[in-house]
Amino acid sequence: MPDVGTRPASSARGSLLLTGIGELTTNVRGRPGADHPRDPTGVVHDAAVLLDGDHVAWAGPERDASTAVVRALGREPDRMEDLGGRAVLPGFVDSHTHLVFAGDRAGEFEARMAGHPYAAGGIRTTVAATRAASDADLRTGLRRLVDEALAQGTTTLETKSGYGLTVADEERSVRLAREVTDEVTFLGAHVVPPEYADGSPRKAEEYVDLVCGEMLRACAPHARWVDVFCETGAFTPEQARTVLRAGTAAGLGVRVHANQLGPGEGVRLAVELGAASVDHCTYLTDDDVAALAGSSTVATLLPGVEFSTRHPYPDARRLLDAGVVVALASDCNPGSSYTSSMPLCVALAVRETGMTVAEAVWAATAGGARALRRSDVGWLGAGSRADLVVLDAPSRVHLAYRPGVPLVARVYRSGAEVARSFAT
Ligand code: NIG
Ligand code: FE
Repeated sequence: MPDVGTRPASSARGSLLLTGIGELTTNVRGRPGADHPRDPTGVVHDAAVLLDGDHVAWAGPERDASTAVVRALGREPDRMEDLGGRAVLPGFVDSHTHLVFAGDRAGEFEARMAGHPYAAGGIRTTVAATRAASDADLRTGLRRLVDEALAQGTTTLETKSGYGLTVADEERSVRLAREVTDEVTFLGAHVVPPEYADGSPRKAEEYVDLVCGEMLRACAPHARWVDVFCETGAFTPEQARTVLRAGTAAGLGVRVHANQLGPGEGVRLAVELGAASVDHCTYLTDDDVAALAGSSTVATLLPGVEFSTRHPYPDARRLLDAGVVVALASDCNPGSSYTSSMPLCVALAVRETGMTVAEAVWAATAGGARALRRSDVGWLGAGSRADLVVLDAPSRVHLAYRPGVPLVARVYRSGAEVARSFAT
């Protein structure tokens, strides 16, 4: 099962020594030869990386490569390639997407840009289209977006259900998601679906019972995570707690959508329940920030949402200065953020949320890995998975400095080259 993506590898794995790397982001703190000992991104200039099968056997200064190769392989590598001074970083880890859906909501976006507000209720438009779609159509749309993300450097990707909201439609959503990634989240509690939304609390509670019972039993075998949209217009903190506890009892890890459209209790609930991540974090109080800072819960920021909804951007600087671990993700979905581009998210985070380039690149790689509680991805060094992005630029600064430019020139996933747009 691929961790992300549907494309066949275009070249065999074997061993490959990449040389001529102008700037290598390792995300390994204090590694020998790295600049800035306190920079978490562990940058090495004039670097090389040795791939061996699906993992990295060595990464470091190019001047040390011959000795390192002999030590790691005991022979010459199968292949060598000079990257001509280009920058290399770990594959992006997009820890928050919603890719199983049908249709789009371009009209809603256009109306927002003309002054209409974003509302959680728009989710029901996509629920209707998704329920009406065939498995084949959902699978085609899902794979198109996964391949789009992969071509932009996303080598690990989480995706969710949440546009089905019946037992059968949620089950097929997580089942289809599992065809493209191991990081599948059950989001039956996205909104109360129309057939339960007569405004009465009793009907909403009936839906929560369904989510925690039959729907969870059908979906848990395909999922690793449970999630709830804890927000006005979606689920209350009490309902969210009920769903998340049921998910935990079914063996799923916890993630939460919270504090997207206004302040609320979602962030503190996520911390209380030991969530791996709480996502959005746009409207935070000092208590929320303090709770996150003393916790193992990552704050995942989704600046594509603020771009697309005209809400104020989250304040990453405030979180980072308080010692919170911050991740960046795309939230790719047809309503609030229809982008699969992690480079765009890095650019927005740098321009709009107060992150430095190094912090944003770390958040989009190592931060995403932390949000998924993964130790094999998000960094480059002996033992990491061989997931690499080669930029057609000398530095990762260009991700923010040249926004909108397709700089991802080559992508390796588990040691296999899966995208290439330049010849060496
Ligand atoms: O993460 N916040 C809840 N869910 C999605 C939006 C989904 C939609 O509008 O279709 C999000 O932004
Ligand atoms: Fe989301």
